[in-house]
Amino acid sequence: MHIVKAKDYNDMSRKAANIISAQIIMKPDCVLGLATGSTPIGAYKQLVEWYRKGDLDFSRVSTVNLDEYRGLSRDDEQSYYYFMNENLFDHVNIDKSRTFLPDGMELDSEKACEDYNAIIQSMGGVDLQLLGLGHNGHIGFNEPGIAFEKQTHCVNLTERTIKANMRFFLSEKDVPRQAYTMGIKTIMSAHKILVVVSGEEKAQIVREAFFGPITPAVPASILQLHNDVVVVADEAALAECGDLLG
Ligand code: F6R
Repeated sequence: MHIVKAKDYNDMSRKAANIISAQIIMKPDCVLGLATGSTPIGAYKQLVEWYRKGDLDFSRVSTVNLDEYRGLSRDDEQSYYYFMNENLFDHVNIDKSRTFLPDGMELDSEKACEDYNAIIQSMGGVDLQLLGLGHNGHIGFNEPGIAFEKQTHCVNLTERTIKANMRFFLSEKDVPRQAYTMGIKTIMSAHKILVVVSGEEKAQIVREAFFGPITPAVPASILQLHNDVVVVADEAALAECGDLLG
């Protein structure tokens, strides 16, 4: 695991975007695994800027996102599909027929998850998976306690995650209670993994996830066993790791 220290959120975003753009330049038909949430927004903005300058070409890139709320349609403003359009896909020359998220409107959970696993497999796997880190160590919607062996599956969101996501909805009752997410096994199958983390409220979990014991109680801790992980974190997020960083 390689930890890159960034000064602040903007620096973290630029450094993460550099890694993603290197992937696209080295392999123009790569498969990117993408994340939503607040943390990657700056990196997406930077990628859009480089695309506009003519430095990046998304025309042959395919994408698979980590997760989607069960029950939300693609045009629901809170759906992750909508988020991806708003923050990236609508602003670059990506072929949208090659951008995938779990189908939130497929209410047959087993079918939705099997279909998504089949899509990822048919693409030959993920070249670079981008991840954010939840306050409780979740990655995707894999909450503490989840089995490491899972592929895409349907999850019940924890109260803490519902509260954390409430900021995007009108009220707590509007936050969907279930989501489809890539499992830990799916995430760990990616060739490379890039984790972005920012802010002092993540400092404790950064220490636990990347320097603590590997345990399902902290889902992100499994990343310590992947052989190609880069964590780009800002100083605030690394504040509890001072003695552990080389
Ligand atoms: C998003 C996702 C989540 C977030 C995590 C951190 O697709 O799967 O695991 O990455 O909740 O969210 P932020 O970045 O909003 O702190």
